Amino acid sequence: MTRKLFVTTALPYANGPFHIGHVMEYIQADTWVRLQRMLGHEVHFVCADDAHGAPIMIAAEKAGLTPQAFVAGIAAGRKQYLDGFHIAFDNWHSTDAPENHQLAQDIYRALRKNELIAVREVEQFFDPQKGMFLPDRFIKGECPNCGAQDQYGDNCEVCGAVYAPTDLKNPVSALTGATPVLRSSEHFFFKLSDPRCVEFLESWTQDGRLQPEVANKVREWFKRGEDGKVGLGDWDISRDAPYFGIEIPDAPGKYFYVWLDAPIGYLASLKNLFGRLGLDMDAYLADPTTEQIHFIGKDIVTFHTLFWPATLKFSGRKVPDRIYVHGFLTVNNGEKMSKSRGTGISPLKYLELGMNAEWLRYYIAAKLNARVEDIDFNPDDFIARVNSDLVGKYINIASRAAGFLHRRFGGRLSADVGVEGRVLLDGLRAHSATVCTHLDEREYGKALREVMLLADRVNEYVDRHKPWELAKTEGMDAALHDVCSVCIEAFRVLTIYLKPVLPALAAQVEAFLQVPPLQWADAQRSLGHHVIGEYKHLMQRVDPKQLDALFEPPPAALPPGGEELAPEIGIADFTKVDLRIAKIVKAEAVDGSTKLLRLTLDAGEGRLRNVFSGIAMNVAPEQLTGKLTVMVANLAPRKMKFGISEGMVLAASHADEKANPGVFVLEPFPGAAPGMRVR
Ligand code: MSP
Ligand code: ZN
Repeated sequence: MTRKLFVTTALPYANGPFHIGHVMEYIQADTWVRLQRMLGHEVHFVCADDAHGAPIMIAAEKAGLTPQAFVAGIAAGRKQYLDGFHIAFDNWHSTDAPENHQLAQDIYRALRKNELIAVREVEQFFDPQKGMFLPDRFIKGECPNCGAQDQYGDNCEVCGAVYAPTDLKNPVSALTGATPVLRSSEHFFFKLSDPRCVEFLESWTQDGRLQPEVANKVREWFKRGEDGKVGLGDWDISRDAPYFGIEIPDAPGKYFYVWLDAPIGYLASLKNLFGRLGLDMDAYLADPTTEQIHFIGKDIVTFHTLFWPATLKFSGRKVPDRIYVHGFLTVNNGEKMSKSRGTGISPLKYLELGMNAEWLRYYIAAKLNARVEDIDFNPDDFIARVNSDLVGKYINIASRAAGFLHRRFGGRLSADVGVEGRVLLDGLRAHSATVCTHLDEREYGKALREVMLLADRVNEYVDRHKPWELAKTEGMDAALHDVCSVCIEAFRVLTIYLKPVLPALAAQVEAFLQVPPLQWADAQRSLGHHVIGEYKHLMQRVDPKQLDALFEPPPAALPPGGEELAPEIGIADFTKVDLRIAKIVKAEAVDGSTKLLRLTLDAGEGRLRNVFSGIAMNVAPEQLTGKLTVMVANLAPRKMKFGISEGMVLAASHADEKANPGVFVLEPFPGAAPGMRVR
């Protein structure tokens, strides 16, 4: 029976480019999807940017952009990674798209109608200067346990203590440095503790649809205390303005917490795809044979096994059929690559170095299994698997046989290959079901080990028959023809087994064999008297030097300025920045700001520019008037609270301004004149 599969990966935060962990998740899901398609199943495979939330709002503000413009910039960078690693989503959308606003509000209304929304007062830290409630990550202070300075509002990185932001000593807002004040406001809650939710979730999480270790972990949430109460609390789904998110209906100034609308983005992306295809999403999801499957990492299990299924269930929608959880990818046994530390290897650098994307697909697949285990990227292991297994065992089969076939037999295969050849090929074909099962169960490592054992068999066959000797021996033409034909047929069968992992390579093989796109069932057929094309080398070996280049150099000791050197740039990058000498015609204090000065600058353009500069702490306005300085003249104008800033003045400061205060404006040597370019 044809399966109907709606498949997603987690929606990455639109706060930065992909790291290698994201790519790993996409490779895992893409491989699975490709297998299903080869089996003739119907798949809709979608993803989207997770656009909302306070961190993205704040990052956008820092960049001087609207959140919409900021996430659009991130979205524009996605394609090069997806294409580069042969990841074939049917759609890439955004949680800020109209479909998602509509769906999230509809779903909320349904939950409310079901009496599962409660309103309660919540007391939280508020930044009076910024006028906003502070997420835990934006409050810093001294650890209440060990006294360590500069710790975040949720846990201490020094002693590991976990606490509420209100426990911090001397808390400050990481946004403005202001002392936060406690303020209460109304929050909306999804009543997960409602017996209907508890009953549903207990059965949904324990009915065999989750991996055993995931189901076990989730079970702890349902443990009943001595009072008989379940350990599942209500879920706070609202945030107060200002917030980049979706407005809560009938609640002015309230927005959905990003994790409420993020998974709804799965549906929004599907809806957008179905709109383009002219299909009916509601009918598709109402079909009981449709399977909804989410690939995610281990850090977001609660959202996908509690909040998300309950959200769907109690808004009257289809619930997920499977949540496939994977572990984290680490590099060199390093720390996990978190969103905040993008260490390790850069996927873009990998591609820019000209490294073959399918090496990485193969390597990651070789390490993956169906459990929630971390896997480690190890460069020596990478080289060994690619060079010895992928190229040495599999590619080698084709390169050993194709030349003879082409030169001596016009590329035509012999159809009757003798008993030994038939036994070998039948043996390979007999593994189709187990390889398929391993891949379908996400036991990619097992599948690839099995395929490599089959490749070993083929190579042993070649070694026994020595085509290079047959080619030199009079009267052995028919034997040579048979042996090479067996090799090509075997190579074709192995290519089918590897195609979900190596789609681009398989396409090259299809061109070389002159066959239509290979399907899984084609392993059971044979090519017969088919004529193949000319063999061109299919895959290079990895050069260990490429891996050396791939790894980011270890962070150097911090120089006196307290800041690491920014990544190397070329002169072209530098010349994008137009630096000009400007005369400070006027400098004045800004009402309501202790940091900013308003500068009126003349850069020889026949007009004056208004520039705000955060240098008030260090210089008095009168010290600046009449002086020359250096300005970034082609910076997009930026709207600030006090007016528009039309440029930026250069100044030096230590990275740790608290410990080494001071901002020092640059002044050119005598002779420089307004309008001169600094290069
Ligand atoms: N935006 C949320 C997900 C919302 S889903 C409705 C999010 N984004 S994320 O960008 O932080 O992570 C996206 C996915 O990448 C998650 O599944 C996460 O587990 C996965 N990974 C993040 N780092 C990873 C590794 N180092 N290794 C493998 N996967 C990793 O969470
Ligand atoms: Zn501490």
